[in-house]
Amino acid sequence: MPDTRTTIVVGVTGGIAAYKTCELVRALVRDGFRVKVVMTEAATRFVSPLTFRTLSAEPVAVSLWADEPDAKVHHVSLAEEADVMVIAPCTANVIAKIAHGRTDDMLTATVLATEAPLIVAPAMNVHMWRKDVTQRNVAALKARGAVIVEPGRGELACGDVGEGRLAPVEEIAEAVRTAATRSRDLVGKHVLVTAGGTHEPIDPVRFIGNHSSGKTGFAIAEEAARRGARVFLVTGPTHLPDPFGCEVVRVQTALQMRAAVLARADACDLIVMSAAVADFRPAAAASEKIKKADAPGAISLERNPDILAELGSRGGKAVLVGFAAETSDVEANAKTKLEAKGCDMIVANDVSDPELGFGTEDNRVLLVSRDGVERLGMMPKKQIAREILNRAAALLGSERAR
Ligand SMILES: Cc1cc2nc3c(=O)[nH]c(=O)nc-3n(C[C@H](O)[C@H](O)[C@H](O)COP(=O)(O)O)c2cc1C
Repeated sequence: MPDTRTTIVVGVTGGIAAYKTCELVRALVRDGFRVKVVMTEAATRFVSPLTFRTLSAEPVAVSLWADEPDAKVHHVSLAEEADVMVIAPCTANVIAKIAHGRTDDMLTATVLATEAPLIVAPAMNVHMWRKDVTQRNVAALKARGAVIVEPGRGELACGDVGEGRLAPVEEIAEAVRTAATRSRDLVGKHVLVTAGGTHEPIDPVRFIGNHSSGKTGFAIAEEAARRGARVFLVTGPTHLPDPFGCEVVRVQTALQMRAAVLARADACDLIVMSAAVADFRPAAAASEKIKKADAPGAISLERNPDILAELGSRGGKAVLVGFAAETSDVEANAKTKLEAKGCDMIVANDVSDPELGFGTEDNRVLLVSRDGVERLGMMPKKQIAREILNRAAALLGSERAR
């Protein structure tokens, strides 16, 4: 029988507080989690792997090079198994390595290979903690979406007094529980995500399109699947590969996207419309390629259906999230769109800034709902996907009146 428990991968590094991780592992096991421990070589000088193996009733990983009985690449399989990864205590050294994407041991290789939420509980001497370089590394982890369980103040093992003590074990366990709840909060839900732009044909070889890359929608679909939802991803043309665990429908035009969305919408609990659907299409697409000599002086356009407004006005059971790409008055326009389209949330971004929006890895968005406006800082699109789904999952759990 496969083990269906939520899996927490606990990383232990070479800090004096490593003995406290024994209590953390016990607490998580008592909570019913499956706990798998991965240690750095330095950590094994403080606590024996045998201790963690006994507490977790699971093998403990230390070396990248250990022989695995099932011939899997161990750091990759461990990374995939993780629903949440927590490192406690986390040394200055491992914080630095993760901040720079280094992978020269089992723990850091697993961190880079995992898509699971990462919780880091630093513990070190006060001067090590206060150093600019450490603070910059911690900021880099935060910017990538890691949750930092801040160290506390007090007498340190080295005799100094100040901040750097490992946060209380219960606080770290609570951060894990929160992340674990989120990490499977869409089990049993049906989620529909649209992504990319549409291509509106002028003739068989030419089209009107836009710059949407599909990255945000793909990240939302993948994250929703990871959180346990059955995910339908309806996407316009993009070079992105199918995200893991999603049922993908690839379309070209707004009309095809509308048909694919409406066919699935009634079955869904959450609909996230991140696609940049063309507002207009050529009124008549030529059936043959238009010859250069026959170039039309103008292309007459007609309106495409507004899929988002259509879903909003139907008032189905699904929580409806729309996107707004604006070049000015972003907040005001998003609020207007929220009401006009009957959405529960609008994700708005300013596409006038060439550094942001279409095709970029990072973005800065506003989340506008009836509860107010939330301005997210600059962050990777995968992190934006998590933030959107956190809010959407909360809306799913609350009584909504349309
Ligand atoms: C007794 C002792 C205690 C240590 N405690 C800490 C600590 O609390 N935090 C820290 O960042 N480094 C600490 N170090 C230094 C790390 O063990 C050292 O940087 C090591 O290379 C870390 O390896 P790792 O990050 O791969 O686990 C300590 C070293 C010793 C000898």
